Amino acid sequence: NPIQAPEFKICGTAHDFNTGDPLDVNCCPPLAGNIIDYKLPPVTKLRRRSAVHKLSKDNIAKYEEAIRRMRELDKTDPTDPRGFTQQANIHCAYCNGAHDQVGYSGLDLSVHYSWIFFPFHRWYLYFYERILGSLINDPTFALPFWNWDNPKGMHLPPIFDNEKSTLYDANRNQDHRGSAIVNLALNSDVTDPLQIISNNLSIMYNEMIGGVNSAIDFMGQPYRAGDPVPPMAQGGTSERGSHISIHAWVGDPRNKYNEDLGNFYSAGRDTAFYCHHSNVDRMWAIWKSLKADYPKDINDPDYLNASFLFYDENKQLVKVKVADCLDYRKMGYEYEKIDVPWLSYRP
Ligand code: C2O
Repeated sequence: NPIQAPEFKICGTAHDFNTGDPLDVNCCPPLAGNIIDYKLPPVTKLRRRSAVHKLSKDNIAKYEEAIRRMRELDKTDPTDPRGFTQQANIHCAYCNGAHDQVGYSGLDLSVHYSWIFFPFHRWYLYFYERILGSLINDPTFALPFWNWDNPKGMHLPPIFDNEKSTLYDANRNQDHRGSAIVNLALNSDVTDPLQIISNNLSIMYNEMIGGVNSAIDFMGQPYRAGDPVPPMAQGGTSERGSHISIHAWVGDPRNKYNEDLGNFYSAGRDTAFYCHHSNVDRMWAIWKSLKADYPKDINDPDYLNASFLFYDENKQLVKVKVADCLDYRKMGYEYEKIDVPWLSYRP
């Protein structure tokens, strides 16, 4: 059977994914009366997610203003599900065992390291983007993507590194600010910039093409109702690879749990998280579009019918299914086309 959307009233303590330590944070969502089965609204104009390093001044200002308003909600009504902390807590609740699986009391629900990783995060960003857009009355607002898979994007995007910006987060590795080059291998002994970039591109080629022989290799192993929390080894190549590396590379080693981006429970407190995940989602889109000698679709009903709960931009609690997020254009957004240099990086 498919993983079922959690019951929000059954929500407990979050704990660290790796050590199991209980975390000193209550990340349970606000309760709502009714739940609506979500139907994708008709699409009139696609939101265009663009590379963050190419974002116009105008669009940076809109993004900053939307985040400012989202942070403001934390103060005016901390229970508003559209608020900055509430949005961050979604990740904690779904990823650090606050929710149990429905019908399996005491069995944690966990959205990492399995085939629901990409769908869950796609839906999460979908509502986050719509909320930001609605806070500034801009139905075309689109989250940019941090294209760490392209040499031009292989550093912390400057818009997040501006201390005066609402996009700034102090809980980051201070050695990885400015012009420090993203190191997807996380090997600090390699210091030559050209070597790091070349290693990054090989890693990308491998996790997207070379090391992938099935849809499950890329997406992650099956995860069904009643299954135990999947260990890292059951994640797909991209999730275990570049995705986790960026979390670890940005997280602050001065903090016990490498908060913010370095731990699932706190990752959503860093605005860069969503921009990072926009690129993770883009990797899913690119992988899907590449020719391969294995089928890309997973037709198992336990995958297609897995469901989650989110609050939409009108504070309505909605239930969404994996089957409805497989075509992102139907969800109303697209990605700017830019160079994908790792495509030709066959070793
Ligand atoms: Cu839910 Cu990048 O993690």
